[in-house]
Formats: sequence, structure tokens, C-alpha cells
Amino acid sequence: MRLVELVYILLLLHLSTLLIISSTNAAANNEQQTLKTTTDSSSSSSSSLFNPKLPPRALSVSKKYEGSSNLVNLRYHMGPVLSSSPINIYLIWYGKWAVSHQLLIKDFLLSISPTRGRRSRAPSVSDWWKTASLYTDQTGANISRSVVIAGEYSDRKYSVGTHLTRLTMQNVIAEAVRSKPFTVDHKNGIYLILTSVDVTVQDFCRAVCGFHYFTFPSVVGFTVPYAWVGNSGKQCPEVCAYPFAVPGYMAGNGPAALKPPNGDVGVDGMMSVIGHELAEMSSNPLVNAWYAGEDPMAPTEIGDLCEGLYGSGGGGGYIGQVNKDKEGRTYNVIGRKGRKFLLQWLWSPVLNACAGPNALD
Ligand SMILES: *[C@@H]1O[C@H](CO)[C@@H](O)[C@H](O)[C@H]1NC(C)=O
Repeated sequence: MRLVELVYILLLLHLSTLLIISSTNAAANNEQQTLKTTTDSSSSSSSSLFNPKLPPRALSVSKKYEGSSNLVNLRYHMGPVLSSSPINIYLIWYGKWAVSHQLLIKDFLLSISPTRGRRSRAPSVSDWWKTASLYTDQTGANISRSVVIAGEYSDRKYSVGTHLTRLTMQNVIAEAVRSKPFTVDHKNGIYLILTSVDVTVQDFCRAVCGFHYFTFPSVVGFTVPYAWVGNSGKQCPEVCAYPFAVPGYMAGNGPAALKPPNGDVGVDGMMSVIGHELAEMSSNPLVNAWYAGEDPMAPTEIGDLCEGLYGSGGGGGYIGQVNKDKEGRTYNVIGRKGRKFLLQWLWSPVLNACAGPNALD
């Protein structure tokens, strides 16, 4: 077992060296391309591509498998995936939230479903979700492509306190269910708890930026998958709102953090974490479906495999080719109302590699 692990690590190291070499070359080319676009003032294109090199996120470096690899042993463990359509999301806003931030997050969630008739601007959020929809259960049913917000509850009084643990997170759901009996069949959906900047959560910043699990009947009354994502804007943006904030040791002469697409480091940073958790919750809702590794208590899931990767040519410190608009704001997908987001890629079971709609093929 140990020897196998060692060989595995050596192979990964070898692989990442290759990636560093190839992405360095890619970056050199991109810079020229970027320069050309910006000097051409007559160009109608208002954005350019670039592939910034940034210090790695403080978290989960050990869980990165940049690019493709046959060594990733992502396996299906016979459990259900979120295949019934649409996926009903019950949103719980915990703490005090600005309406503009709520609208932004809801626009992201509502951008996941493919738009009818009118084509959405590419690369779109719904094309990003296409990768998640490639996962199936043992009956061959795919993860649903459509997502709706079926209910919302705001807990502005911090009913369970300003510090939450993995266990009391379920009390937050229980409280929401008690205070606002959701009208639609909420036992058939998923809960998404979003905590405001002032709420601390067990392991937040130190080990996680979000997590997903399922509720216990003894606490909530029934079993449904849920996910939590926190606003890290004040507590640890360099950890959880990467790459809109980068670790302090690089300050001064290191590369600068990227400009968030909607002007808010904390909330823009949450978007990729929400995407990550939604994708993992959909492919592994009861923690017995799609994951790599032997330990279901510490599974490596379809988001973990691509953390820190946002475009082609990523790896070895590069985040991959992403877009930069006229104001220098960074994004890689577009959603409803022309909203822009920067979302990490997801592991594709078809390509056996990380994939995203902004890939340069
Ligand atoms: C369902 O998943 C399979 C296997 O990944 C894929 O080939 C197929 O295109 C998917 N279908 C839809 C409708 O997404």
C-alpha cells in the first residue's frame, strides 16, 4: 500500500513537472496575444484572454490533479445522484445579507439551467454544468441539467448563534423548516445554507470553504442532501476567495490578486465554492456515489479534482486561460442578465480530465 502510494506520488510529480513546462510556454504566447488585443482599440471585443500565475491556494494543494490523469481513480459506489428534474434548491440565508448579493447569487443558480429558445452567451454557466450532468446512477439516469430555487428563508436573527459546527448546521435547517414550512415538497430537494461574513464555522478557513452532507431525521425530521458555503470576505479571502485574494507572503513583489467580476471579493469568491459544492452534492448526495479514494469519510470528489483550475493551460501555479474585461475584471463564464462569474472546472468522466466551457480546443 505504502509503496503504491509512493509510486503514485512520484508519477504525479513527474506529471506536474511536464505541466509546468507546457503551461509556461502557453503563458508566454498568451501575453503576446493579450498585448495585441488591447492595442487594437477598434476591436469590438471587450475582453482578452490571459493566464495568470498565482501562488497556490492555501487549502487542498494535496488534492490537486491538474490537467488529465489516468491515475485518478474516480469510481461509482452505487448510490443515487440528483437525477430528478429539476433540482429544487431551498436557500437559507443565515445572518445579514445585502439584497444585491442575494440577487447575484440567485442569478448564478438560475443560470445553471439551459435557457429556452434564446441561446445563452458562450461560455455559459449552463455549459459549465454540462460536465456535471455527465454523471449517472446505476440506472443510467444523468444528473439533472435544470435547477430551480424552490424556496428561500432568511435567518437574520442568527437563531443558532454566530458560530456553527457541522452538527449545528443541521439545526439551522431544522429552524428554517420550523419557521417557514416550505410549500413545495422540500423533502425532495436540497438545502443550500449561505452564511454571512460575520458567521464563523467549524473548520472554515482552516480546512474547508464549504462542505456538503445530508440531514439526520433525528435533527431535521428527514434525510436530504445539504451544502454550506460561507462568505470568507473578512475572515480568510486569501484561502476561500482565491484567486481574488492571494496569500499574504506574496504581497509586494508577488503577482497581484485578480479583480472579481462583480466587484466583491467575498461574494464573487463564494460563487466558485457554491459551484464546487453543488457539483459534488449532485454527484455524491448521500456520500455513496461518485468519489475517488477509499475513504468515504474523506472522499475526493468531482470538484476537488479540479480546484484552482479555471481554464486551458492551467497547472504549475497557472490558473488557466480566463477572460479579462475592459475594466480588468476576471471571469470565465457568463450567466443570465450578462452576469459574469469565475468558476473552477469540474472533472469530466468522459474526458477523464478537468473540463470547462471556456476550454481552448
Ligand atoms: C448522460 O451521461 C452519459 C455518460 O457520461 C453521456 O454520454 C450522455 O451524454 C449524458 N446525457 C445527457 C443528456 O447529459
